[in-house]
Amino acid sequence: MHPMLNIAVKAARRAGSMITRASEDIGSLTINDKSYNDFVTEVDIASERIIIDILKEAYPSHSFLGEESGLSNDSDNVWIIDPLDGTTNFLHNFPQYAVSIALVQKGEITQAVVYDPNRNDLFTATKGQGAYLNDRRIRVSKKTKLKDSLIGTGFPFRDFKHLSDYLKVLEDVIINTSGIRRPGAAALDLAYVAAGRLDGFWEIGLSKWDIAAGGLLVTEAGGIVSDFAEKQNWLETGNILCSNPYIYEPLIKLIQKKLPQELKS
Ligand code: IPD
Ligand code: CA
Ligand code: CA
Repeated sequence: MHPMLNIAVKAARRAGSMITRASEDIGSLTINDKSYNDFVTEVDIASERIIIDILKEAYPSHSFLGEESGLSNDSDNVWIIDPLDGTTNFLHNFPQYAVSIALVQKGEITQAVVYDPNRNDLFTATKGQGAYLNDRRIRVSKKTKLKDSLIGTGFPFRDFKHLSDYLKVLEDVIINTSGIRRPGAAALDLAYVAAGRLDGFWEIGLSKWDIAAGGLLVTEAGGIVSDFAEKQNWLETGNILCSNPYIYEPLIKLIQKKLPQELKS
């Protein structure tokens, strides 16, 4: 394993153990609303601290972009961290949440870890070296027909600006696929596409920490990741679609049909 990935895995596992301990007593947590339907707990903050402390000890000159603490300083090496992806699930004891850590070097995502402490699923990738689930190489699914595909998504739940357009797209996807899932942790949704558990995924307006690691997992597993304009600005815009290479064309065309122009450029 690449030494940088190794450190990130150590950080993700350490944070995951703390999250698991905390999940045994959710009732005692202090919960704050960052904004409407956007919760942050002391667990999110403690997890980010654990991760940054471990990474910083190994790489003191690197920068850190964490969901809870923002960007530390600027450098050619930026660690992008979602300390707890799926906080709403966590708060309901719904066991679908993860830690997500990615390294971006000179604008390119080079290392990725998504760790699900409930299933002990460790998804990792290093640019150019494939994607793994625990010690096994993973690849995207081989489904060739949209009609047979299982597609993941995220519903808008904080910002409802695009809700009606989203629902039109959702209707088309429901009709043209074998099913939709909304598990509630985008980093894991992407990891599931990488592992072939989902055949595709799309969501509007995510943040860098939701998708940086998962995006590399998907490409390293042989999948395609793009924004809704079929370009590579997904990390910047947070508008993301990914799938195995066979259903990418029909899926993006279907999703583009009902999306407003502003989301396609
Ligand atoms: C959220 C989850 C969710 C997605 C949201 C994200 P958080 O992350 O990934 O699946 O639909 O857009 O913000 O807030 O739980 O880290
Ligand atoms: Ca998140
Ligand atoms: Ca989070």
